[in-house]
Amino acid sequence: MSISPKITPIYQTSVFTFEDLNALEAYFQEPGQHYMYTRYGNPNSEELAQEVNKLEHGQGAVATSSGMSAILTAVLVYAKAGDHVLCAEEIYGGSSSLLSNELSRLGVEVTYVPTADTYSLAGYVRENTKLFLAETISNPMMMVMDLAQLAQKCQAKGIKLVVDNTFASPVITRPLELGADLVIHSVTKYLSGHSDVTAGVLIAKEAEDAARAAQIMRTWGLNLSPFESWLAARGLKTLKLRMREHSANGLAVAQFLQQHPKVQAVFYPGLAEHPQHDLAQKQGNGLYGGMLSFRIADETEAVNRFMKALSHIPFAPSLAGVTTSISYPLGTSHRGLTQEQQEKMGITVGLIRLSVGIEDAQELIADLEKGLAAI
Ligand SMILES: Cc1ncc(COP(=O)(O)O)c(C=O)c1O
Repeated sequence: MSISPKITPIYQTSVFTFEDLNALEAYFQEPGQHYMYTRYGNPNSEELAQEVNKLEHGQGAVATSSGMSAILTAVLVYAKAGDHVLCAEEIYGGSSSLLSNELSRLGVEVTYVPTADTYSLAGYVRENTKLFLAETISNPMMMVMDLAQLAQKCQAKGIKLVVDNTFASPVITRPLELGADLVIHSVTKYLSGHSDVTAGVLIAKEAEDAARAAQIMRTWGLNLSPFESWLAARGLKTLKLRMREHSANGLAVAQFLQQHPKVQAVFYPGLAEHPQHDLAQKQGNGLYGGMLSFRIADETEAVNRFMKALSHIPFAPSLAGVTTSISYPLGTSHRGLTQEQQEKMGITVGLIRLSVGIEDAQELIADLEKGLAAI
């Protein structure tokens, strides 16, 4: 009997068997061709990593247990105790917590670079500075990073550029082509796309860095399970289609919100008024994704009335699923910041973040209209 499945089956096994010592030798001599132990590598996690590697135009990739473990791996590829890393001030809270609270305990020092100093890095780079961690599109204000300019500056200063490309996905922007050294994703978001997976991936410009990342993943036990890998690889097959829909709906919803009298401001790179609109257009090949934020009256009760009046859009503090959801930065992702930091970033009581899904845009707009009418 010969079985030849069209789709990679789930290799739900923790270990692989060897026929004899020659097979064991083949495992060590031909890396990537054989498997030994799932923490070291599994066909499902390898398939996911290779597919994302292709999309990001990398020279090697590693699937990890979460976006957080991908970020940890990326930092560990370049930094050790006694080193210093730079991080964009507007960064995912988990990333800053990892750097400030955990890696600092292991002797890796971090300095946050305000947006205004990002492209000069004047006064920030030291002899022991190893890398700069930044995001393609920031959360929740949707600032777009000029990755080519940043990469040039990092190269000139002799430091590596690590880009969290979660909000954009490789359909919109490919940071390695713009000069980044490593790209990471929370696969939990757009790459898997259906709000049912927690996973991460790291993609490297140099094969050597990918090999080092694989070594870190194995030794720290940051591997992704076969089933989660399979689900993520399944979701990934429709990434291109989904990103086009997310982008079309994102623009339609942003335009609707922009003209609504109860909306004070909309933050979406696809709007001509967005401060980095031209850059976003160039760097994003005309697609702007499904993430946006908007501001209503700065009153807790107005926010509650808006949320309660929505019929189809739930409040769920994550993003990038096929169905639309709202989140509330002040109470979730940016809760840990000081009031001064929140105000500086524009995160006020009335700021609502929307992860626009791939439903019919008119249905979404009707639901938002209902929510805004209730304010
Ligand atoms: C931009 C960004 N990077 C990384 C992460 C962490 O990913 P995960 O939750 O998969 O560990 C998140 C999570 O929300 C995120 O939004």
